Amino acid sequence: MNIGKRLASIGSKVPSGCVLADIGTDHAYLPVWLLQKQRIKSAIAGDIAQGPCKAAKNTVAMYGMKDKVDVRCGSGLKVLRDNEADCIVIAGMGGSTIADILSADLAIAQQAAMLILQPMAGASSLRKWLCEHGWRLAEEDLVQEGGHLYEIIVAVRGNSCEYSEAEYEVGPCLMAKQHVLLPEQLQKLLTSYRKMLLNMEKSNLAKESEKYRQVTELLRQLEEISDEYKRC
Ligand SMILES: C[S@@+](CC[C@H](N)C(=O)[O-])C[C@H]1O[C@@H](n2cnc3c(N)ncnc32)[C@H](O)[C@@H]1O
Repeated sequence: MNIGKRLASIGSKVPSGCVLADIGTDHAYLPVWLLQKQRIKSAIAGDIAQGPCKAAKNTVAMYGMKDKVDVRCGSGLKVLRDNEADCIVIAGMGGSTIADILSADLAIAQQAAMLILQPMAGASSLRKWLCEHGWRLAEEDLVQEGGHLYEIIVAVRGNSCEYSEAEYEVGPCLMAKQHVLLPEQLQKLLTSYRKMLLNMEKSNLAKESEKYRQVTELLRQLEEISDEYKRC
């Protein structure tokens, strides 16, 4: 099975021998691929919608893995019982949806040794949410696939450092390891915030707002980080 670079990178971060919960599994490609590679013990593949649950059941049956992958239809972590999953993956949803799923069943989320999250947007707020709720950012990755740059965040329970707004935006672990795709990521952020400021400048009210001041300061910090990378 070929699952693509993004899912393969998420899979590579799943600890060997664990029981995986893949929340929002869609076709259950990730758990089936990890089982094919004998990387995990078993998996719970959860999805809120009937279509994806059916697709997941089909994949699991096609690969003869019904005894290893339990497909459960339901919202977020509600499909999990206490201490069932060692590692929870939530990929391919917005950062705020991911934070909402974790908040809705915080005790279940806290029982997992590791969270592997791949937000489609809003990674900065998700990082902040994790740090404010007792997780530590343990690893981050960037993957380029099909013209998109995907952010992957691995979080474990523990005391987090304090990060600046710009560090939450860029990803502190990506900065620490000087990820090879960081210049692209910085460019993407700079373009998006410059565009936001230009739009705000069309209205006097927006230009005098606290939000405008905050975005201006964030952009200044991002430009500083970007200039440092150019010097490296
Ligand atoms: C874009 S797909 C991502 C599939 C796969 N995780 C991946 O990254 O390729 C998002 C999936 O999340 C499911 N989903 C959205 N909100 C959910 C929730 N609250 N609980 C469980 N699944 C959810 C959708 O039904 C959909 O199948």
